[in-house]
Amino acid sequence: MILLNPGPVNVSPRVTEAMLRGDLCHREPEFSDLLDAVRTKLVRAFAPDGDWAAVPLTGSGTLALEAAVSSAVSTGRKMLVVENGVYGARIREMAETHGVDVVVLEWAWTERADPARIAAALGADPAIEVVAVVHHETTTGLRNPIEGIGRVVRDAGRLLLVDSISGLAGDPIDVEGWGVDICVGVANKCIQGVPGVGFVLARRSEMARMAEIPQRSVYLHLPRHFAAHEKRTVPFTAAVQVLYALDEALDELLEETVAGRVERYARAARQLRAGFARLGLEILLPDEWRSNSITTIGLPEGATYESLHDHLKADGFVIYEGQGQLGATAFRVANMGALSVDDFDRFLESLGRALA
Ligand SMILES: Cc1ncc(COP(=O)(O)O)c(C=O)c1O
Repeated sequence: MILLNPGPVNVSPRVTEAMLRGDLCHREPEFSDLLDAVRTKLVRAFAPDGDWAAVPLTGSGTLALEAAVSSAVSTGRKMLVVENGVYGARIREMAETHGVDVVVLEWAWTERADPARIAAALGADPAIEVVAVVHHETTTGLRNPIEGIGRVVRDAGRLLLVDSISGLAGDPIDVEGWGVDICVGVANKCIQGVPGVGFVLARRSEMARMAEIPQRSVYLHLPRHFAAHEKRTVPFTAAVQVLYALDEALDELLEETVAGRVERYARAARQLRAGFARLGLEILLPDEWRSNSITTIGLPEGATYESLHDHLKADGFVIYEGQGQLGATAFRVANMGALSVDDFDRFLESLGRALA
């Protein structure tokens, strides 16, 4: 089955086989070596410059994101949340659930966030300590302007938290150069590992700052995990086999290089989008805002998502429905994972037959 949903993705046989390295107790030195290796490779891949640390966490991307959101804001300060899709809205929900005061700036789902509006909001409210934004809004496939947002956040002396769960390794992001302070990712999307581990990348100065904030959660308190990781251990049982797979997936990524992976995804997206145009399909977003890994397409007259999905699945392809308000009018095709030009060609042929 070829997965054209935005994670979990098809992984290489090498990554699948890594899960069979053998049973391992997370209190043994072999696990400490695995944890160190994964942490080191995450920093080498995504934050090679500056003084960064990686904190892998057992759970899906939401868990890692909630750990970052609930750990990042000092008592009495606020989080500004950029909302132009489902995942921005989820950050707001997380902050509110943990009793963090939130200022929300909303845009339509088809609009990019505007750094000037964020700068104005920061100027008006000195209590805002952290700005949180989604890099790649998986809702629509829209890429937010992280570099420009990073500039205004840094100029205002505030901190930037980025959900790059569907961005890292698929779209460009320079956490050090663009002024990101905390960045959240997951194993099972563009990194091409399996589901079960997310991670937080943060400047070490940020890890020290967060350690001073009273904890809002037991499991999700990021400094607790970081402190244990620095001692080569974990506070709670880790998903050992998922970490084996992530370790192997990171080796693959570093061999391909992050820039090489981003370029491969960009090429795949171009191939798919040219095919969609040949089939007369309409893409939701303007070209320059689209990510390298998701395309949201209007459902053609008379077609239903269910019929399209079922036709394609019978040919071995899984597509993804439109999210929320787009459910009735659009569907999504992702190009994440260990897939080839030939896989995408065969998919476009199958899509042509399904539409006919
Ligand atoms: C941008 C973004 N944030 C958060 C999540 C949540 O991740 P998970 O489903 O792994 O919990 C997703 C999942 O698609 C996502 O795309």
